[in-house]
Amino acid sequence: MSNEKEPVIIYGGSFNPPHSGHISLAKAAYRQIKPKAFYFVPNFHSPFKEMQPASFNDRRNMLQIAAGENFMNLPGVQISSWEEDQKKIVYTWKTIAHFRRIHPNAKIYFLMGSDCLKSFNDWQRSRSILRNASLLVGIRPGFNIVGGEAPFVPLKGLFPAAASSGIRINIILKHKTPGISQAVMDYIKNRGLYFSQEVNMLRKELSARRYRHCVNVARCAVELAHICAVPEYKAAIAGLLHDCARELDVEVLKAMRIQGPVLGRYRRDTVRFAPKLLHAPAGAMIARERYGVKDKDILQAIQLHATGMPDMPLLCKIIYMSDYLSEERKFAGLDGLRKLAVTDFDAAFAAVAAAKARYREEKKCWAHPLSIQLWKQIKEAAEK
Ligand SMILES: [Fe+2]
Ligand SMILES: [Fe+2]
Repeated sequence: MSNEKEPVIIYGGSFNPPHSGHISLAKAAYRQIKPKAFYFVPNFHSPFKEMQPASFNDRRNMLQIAAGENFMNLPGVQISSWEEDQKKIVYTWKTIAHFRRIHPNAKIYFLMGSDCLKSFNDWQRSRSILRNASLLVGIRPGFNIVGGEAPFVPLKGLFPAAASSGIRINIILKHKTPGISQAVMDYIKNRGLYFSQEVNMLRKELSARRYRHCVNVARCAVELAHICAVPEYKAAIAGLLHDCARELDVEVLKAMRIQGPVLGRYRRDTVRFAPKLLHAPAGAMIARERYGVKDKDILQAIQLHATGMPDMPLLCKIIYMSDYLSEERKFAGLDGLRKLAVTDFDAAFAAVAAAKARYREEKKCWAHPLSIQLWKQIKEAAEK
């Protein structure tokens, strides 16, 4: 315990994963304030709420790697498990009060990026935080100080804006992930974090062509999810796994104990006239059982991606459309539809459903009753 008046810095966050924005802020704060103690405080993550939870130990290990030995060995630098030890979400005022008890006479700084400062006045017991600590703020591009914010101490310099959520999506989509060090990325791959293990599994199970299609569908779905304010990770995972059963033999599909609206009372006709359609509900089943997806929205989007259904939730519509608009498809009119999808989502959805209906008619394919009902609903809405 310290009774000295030397400063103490608390840096709370999810660090899921830690990125260059976190680390540059931490280093600048340490350099400029010269604290007696510097605490990284990774917050508690409920293992039940997240799609792909990274444990506290993984996040602590990644923080150590990202910050580097030189920084972690500086006097006073440590990673605190206090919030994790509470086994529930801890509000910042409580964390600050905890460190105030440890350092009763210290000047305590709570470190944050200017993106967080914007919402600070809405935080629970924000005045209690300001009584016990000063806000130490690094300015991030796009989050300038405009006035009206809580009082704070600015850090010199400009700090990169990186978002852990965007990094996790990039990992799922196998995009380049600027803002994260190679050493952290190696750790993520070795541990199979953020769905990277499942992505590798999918790549092994599908042909290269099909896998590329799935990645393209996921990319398109993430773009549309962003526009539609649907969680992007759900779109990424649903897009990636939507065709995980597409290459199974029809006899294998028929033998599976598949449930869901695509089958139900339509089971006999589906098996008889279009057994390949079984790959959609079978995919949902495999996503749940083999890939560990428990999220009902994701499973439903996989289940309905081939037939559609009236009154589909947005995520289902996004996957249904992304499957059709996927980058590797080259037929006429698709570029126009892709542009329409980002400017008028509903119009593009109707156009995709229309194109699928036209295709079925031209090819004289059996139409699944759910597809017919969806197309009927769209036509009726257009006539109103
Ligand atoms: Fe499919
Ligand atoms: Fe597909």
